[in-house]
Amino acid sequence: MSDRKPLIAGNWKMFKTNDEAIETVQKLIKNVGQVTDVDIMIAPPFTALSVVAPLVNNSSIGLSGQNMHWEEKGAYTGEISAEMLINIGCSYVILGHSERRQYFKETDDQINKKVHAALKSQLKPVLCIGETENERDSNKTFSVLDKQIEIGLQGVFIDRIVDVIIAYEPVWAIGTGKTASDEQAQEVHTYLRKRLNDIYNDSVAQSIRILYGGSVKPNNIKGLMTMPDIDGALVGGVSLDADQFSAVVQY
Ligand code: PGA
Repeated sequence: MSDRKPLIAGNWKMFKTNDEAIETVQKLIKNVGQVTDVDIMIAPPFTALSVVAPLVNNSSIGLSGQNMHWEEKGAYTGEISAEMLINIGCSYVILGHSERRQYFKETDDQINKKVHAALKSQLKPVLCIGETENERDSNKTFSVLDKQIEIGLQGVFIDRIVDVIIAYEPVWAIGTGKTASDEQAQEVHTYLRKRLNDIYNDSVAQSIRILYGGSVKPNNIKGLMTMPDIDGALVGGVSLDADQFSAVVQY
């Protein structure tokens, strides 16, 4: 048995005004605010972080940004830095989400710079990787993941890698209702752990948390979590509903 503590993370994407965010977080705190056997993280939109931060303080719910820039500061209109996220109370940041890659053309090199900037500021990066349906159909799943993980983690030394969380999110399963089967997900997670072993060593590979993401719901989380290499979930749509997300947390 591994001693990796499960992490259930909610990515709110571009949803919720501040009033809606407060209401959701108050319910979440009531439902799961004292859970200690699972780490919980939510990533509200940037605009809601400052109203949510005081609410989750002293609860077991951690805060995350959904993205950030790699520079510390500067003339980058519309961007936000690691230090700003730390200062507002975040301890995590989601990086390289497939929607950032697809719609905003983020590259593995840029994502790698963000991983370094996050680690430098003591934010835990949640590095998202995953293949598209086309790539899976043409048997490119593993080569795509290799490239994303190798470039994404380039230059991250062994003493810092334990703060990195990997989220495997097959793009064809995000927001589509199609989930990878427990075994399909496990196969990829085993592969990723093996790659981490090749790049670092076995103890690193055994200690890094690898989350699964893509249409995770209360009725499929249990099966996923019985897989030995799945250490939690990155949840999109379902994380918008406090009761549903709480049910995922309490799988
Ligand atoms: P979904 O999104 O749970 O709505 O499929 C997952 C994600 O984008 O992280």
